[in-house]
This record gives sequence, structure tokens and C-alpha cells, in this order.
Amino acid sequence: MDKLVVKGPGRLAGTMNVSGSKNTALPLMAGAILAPGISTISNIPSLRDISTFARVMRVTGTRVDIDDSAGLVTIDATNIEDTVAPYELVKRMRASFYMLGALLGRCGEAKVSLPGGCAWGPRPVDLHIKGVQAMGATVDLEQGYVIAKAVGGRLKGGSFRLEPSSVGATINLLLAGSTARGGSRIENAAMEPDVVVFGECLREMGARISGLGTSTIEIEGVDELKPVDFANCPDRIELGTYMIAAALCGEPGSPVRINGADDRHLGKVFVDAFTATGASIEVGDNYIDVTAPEKLSSVSIETGIYPGFPTDLQAQWTILLSQSEGNGKVVDKVYHDRFKHIPELHRMGINAIVVGNEVVVQGKTKLTGAQVMSTDLRASVSLVLAGMVASGTTEVLRVYHLDRGYENLENKLSGAGIDITRESYDEWASPVEERQMSA
Ligand code: UD1
Repeated sequence: MDKLVVKGPGRLAGTMNVSGSKNTALPLMAGAILAPGISTISNIPSLRDISTFARVMRVTGTRVDIDDSAGLVTIDATNIEDTVAPYELVKRMRASFYMLGALLGRCGEAKVSLPGGCAWGPRPVDLHIKGVQAMGATVDLEQGYVIAKAVGGRLKGGSFRLEPSSVGATINLLLAGSTARGGSRIENAAMEPDVVVFGECLREMGARISGLGTSTIEIEGVDELKPVDFANCPDRIELGTYMIAAALCGEPGSPVRINGADDRHLGKVFVDAFTATGASIEVGDNYIDVTAPEKLSSVSIETGIYPGFPTDLQAQWTILLSQSEGNGKVVDKVYHDRFKHIPELHRMGINAIVVGNEVVVQGKTKLTGAQVMSTDLRASVSLVLAGMVASGTTEVLRVYHLDRGYENLENKLSGAGIDITRESYDEWASPVEERQMSA
């Protein structure tokens, strides 16, 4: 297994590059299944979640070629031979559940494993299932699989209200509804940029969709979609993470440049909270300059659906609060117990208490390096940020969580002045054995 070794405290300077969005790339890949023929998607990050999803797609007979160096995925969906998404792959990544809408839309049937829970608690898919039922699918549950069939081989379309609003369910219903016989309406639809960009791609493929970026999306089903060549957007969560890193570790007065960034996807609530800390932002053509303040002010946040503060940035924000003047609070209203990183951060000296869906964080806390365990994707990057401000050496173990969503993180950070390296280790080796291994 790999670990990241961070020697702090570090100073971030120079430039960092944002990769293509993981959470947009996955639906874009799923969308290609809807069109017989060859589609290409560019600006695809080289990440484990992308290769996992390619494996899920290949089970259906779809050809998926990933060119990591070019950031290009070529998808040949001329022939779909099977309509199954197996447990062995779906359990690794919940977004595999997009195969439900993609296969229903293309073939009128799908057998997709239920994803199960995730590191920070149950994450249901009831809305995805009820939504496709509203569009005319029959759904049976058998041995952990959702078996969905469109009566007469094609969905008829229908209206469905998402409660709560869900990114994944909106995407699945866009996939399912685009080739339905009739019209569909998604109420309380997700307005996240990932959904909007994906919907724009479907439109380029010939789908008739209106209301993207609003809470009501309407779809007029078409007989067939055509393949597409589409450019993915930059990763807004990666951008937000580097902005937080720059506010924490940048030299006050000297901007850190973040290239390939699209500030429009950050959402107003995040930008307002970020600048309220005292950090400043200057937006240029395809880049953002972030300048750290002399003193960070503590700014409490509450996560919410877009354009609210992203739940995927709350763990990182906790580190910012720990270095700010005064105490602050993070409230997660999307996922109520997404705080698995807090006990790990306690090992580094953070003073934070979790009460229900809130964590109260004491500011101006001296952190010290320690061995800490990644528990999920965003939690693990918060441990890296903590390592960057802590004195001494931090080892972030089980870094495979982080590899799901951050492309080349250690190279990007070390290129901007942080002392960070990747090393392999044997999790079951005793400290003596480990010393012998590295000798
Ligand atoms: C996506 C993102 C994830 C992010 C999350 C919230 C991807 C691949 N993942 O996840 O990084 O943290 O949005 O911004 O894009 N819900 C239900 N029933 C359902 C579906 C969802 O009750 O059938 C609830 C969830 O428990 C949660 C809320 O809806 O409280 C929002 O979840 P959702 O937007 O669906 O998250 P994902 O699409 O899984």
C-alpha cells in the first residue's frame, strides 16, 4: 500500500494545475453508452474512479480506451452485449449506479448491483429507483441487484420530484429520460455544475433538455442520440482544495496561481466564506490567484446543495478553521456524519468536537505530525493539508482513498514547494519489520 509523507510546516508558492472534474467525467462516460458509435471525452483526469468506471462499462461490451497521457477517453458503444453492472465493481464506487439510467435509456433494461453503504454511513439510492419507476420502468430487487425493465423495451417518460435534491439521481434520470418515448420532468433537480455540464453534453448528442441549472429540468425524449466529442470541465472540488491550501500555506502577500480553474463552478457561498477569512482571490483567464492573509479569520460554514457550500470541501475547511483566529463551526447538512477525519486529526493535536452533524473547531491550534489513516476521499486530503501546516512528519496511510479523486497530488504539491513524497508500506508489518523493509 502507499502512504504520503509530508514534512511540515510547508510554504506553498508558485503555480498548481487543476485537472478535469472527476464527478463530471463519470456521467459523461455513462452518457456515451446512449449513442451507438464512437464518442470521445477530453480533459479526463487519470484517477482510479475513472478506470473503475471504464471496467464497469466494459462488462456491457462497450469498448473504453483511456489515454492517460492525453487525458482522453474513447468510448465505442456500437454494440451493447450485456446489461449488467456487477457487485464486484459497483461496491468500489457508487457512481457505477449511473449504469442504471444509461442501460435503461439505451437498451430498455438494466441489472445493476445496489452499491451498499460508504465510509461515512448509508447513502441510499431510493430516489434513483423511484425516479425510473416514474418514467415507466418496472423494478425488482433480487439478490442485491436492481432489475429494471422498460415496458415494451422503451421508457415512456414521466414526472418525478427529488426529495432531497440529489446529484446522482438527477444524472440517472437525465440518462434514462433522454431517449424515452415521451416527456419527463425532474423537480427539485440538482443544479450542481457537474449536472449542467453533463446535460449540455447530452444536448450536443441530440437530447432535448431544458431548465439545466434550475431546479426544474424538462426532457423531451428522442428516438436516438448521436456520438459526441466533448471537453470535460475542470474539477471544482480540486480547485477549492488548492484554494484552501494556498490560504493556509501561501506566503502572505504573494499569490499562488491555480491554473485551469473555472471560478464560476465554485458557488457563491464558498467564495464568500473564503474571502471572509481574509484570503483574496483574483480571477484571470483560466486561472485564479489566491493570496493568503497575515491572519486568517474564523468563518463558520454550513454545507448545502449547489450553490451552497460543497460537502466535499468541509473536511478541508476544518483545517482552515484550526489555523484561524477564534473558534468556528462546520455543519454538514448534506451528509450528517461525515466526520471520520476528526479522530485522526486529534492525533495531530486539533481541538475539535463533533456534536451531531456539527464540528466545533478551536482556532490557532499548533498541529504536530503523526501517522494518520485515510478513511475516505475528501477526509484524506484534509489530513494532507493538516500535514502541511503541522510541525514534523505526517504519514497519511491508505492513500488509495485519495487516489480516487486527486490526480498526482504529491507532484502538484511538491512542484509548489511542499515537502511531500509517496512511499509504499506493508500495513501489517510491525515497526521493526518496516524499518528493515526500508533499510
Ligand atoms: C455526489 C458526489 C459527491 C458529493 C455529493 C453531494 C459524484 C460521483 N459524487 O454524490 O462527491 O459529496 O454529490 O454533493 O458526483 N439521497 C437520498 N436518496 C437517494 C439519493 C440521495 O436520500 O436516492 C440523499 C443523500 O443521502 C444525501 C443527498 O441526497 O443526503 C444528496 O446526495 P447526492 O446528491 O445523491 O450525492 P451523490 O450523487 O451520491
